[in-house]
Amino acid sequence: MTVTTLPSAPSTFDTTQAVWSATDELRNPPPAKLIVDRVTKSFKSQSGWLKALDDVSLTVGEGEFVCLVGPSGCGKSTLLNLIAGLDTPESGTLSSDGAPIIGPGRERGVMFQEHALFPWLDVLGNVLFGLQLKPSLNKAERIDIAKYYLQLVGLGRFVHANVHELSGGMKQRVALARTLAPNPRILCMDEPFAALDAMTREQLYADLQDIWAKRKKTIIFVTHNVREAVCLGDRVVLFSPNPGRIREEFRITLPRNRDINSVELAEHATLITRALKQHNATTNTSE
Ligand SMILES: Nc1ncnc2c1ncn2[C@@H]1O[C@H](COP(=O)(O)OP(=O)(O)OP(=O)(O)O)[C@@H](O)[C@H]1O
Ligand SMILES: [Mg+2]
Repeated sequence: MTVTTLPSAPSTFDTTQAVWSATDELRNPPPAKLIVDRVTKSFKSQSGWLKALDDVSLTVGEGEFVCLVGPSGCGKSTLLNLIAGLDTPESGTLSSDGAPIIGPGRERGVMFQEHALFPWLDVLGNVLFGLQLKPSLNKAERIDIAKYYLQLVGLGRFVHANVHELSGGMKQRVALARTLAPNPRILCMDEPFAALDAMTREQLYADLQDIWAKRKKTIIFVTHNVREAVCLGDRVVLFSPNPGRIREEFRITLPRNRDINSVELAEHATLITRALKQHNATTNTSE
């Protein structure tokens, strides 16, 4: 698999010079927070067994922001579910901080495309629900923490609002606060902003980058949107389907906070989209 580092200030790319050097990386490797080692996962479908993931390996460093990109059905959500401990691999192993992942855990928070808020609880109640995972806290401490995260996601004024009074973007912010409140070290996010309008999404890109920097999370973020991946990720990992495999990685070194509308970011996205199309063309013709 090729790993390419995209330079931070190019106006024209020379991809031959952008190739990542293993020696650069080995000089100062971040500690591995998450290790996915040769993982395979199949599902039974009407036409037989389908290999959703085939021999997938991925190492994610502490505090790294990794985006998984690829067409529908290439196994992104399957991998995220395995990392979250919501499913088990057929073969291969997953570990977080050196401990095998054998089920959901407090150190790994999950956020999906659908906010999955409880409509009978208000905004604060929904975030407090996430804090049930922390039995060591008393009620006052939980409320303080929930309010802190609601403030962090920009909803400090909506603590007692009902869920049905919120816009789609606000609901996703509550879901983000609920996921962040138990202070997971790894955030698994599966297309969390896909259903939102462009302007709301842009604001959330900025907020998520701020939160990531402030709270020092390791984030695995699934998206179809290459620009979104370049805007958020330290690394963009490309998947192809049938069977689901990792095909290529790009390191993004653009300075943060990144603006999704910048010319540089668009150039990176164009290059990565081209690579994605090539991988899918070879997948479709060879298998
Ligand atoms: N529980 C399941 N039972 C049967 N097949 C499944 C199951 N979960 C996933 N699959 C199949 O595994 C493959 C990978 O699915 P997955 O949801 O991981 O793809 P994805 O990359 O997340 O796609 P999308 O971008 O559409 O969300 C698909 O072909 C899907 O139909
Ligand atoms: Mg998916």
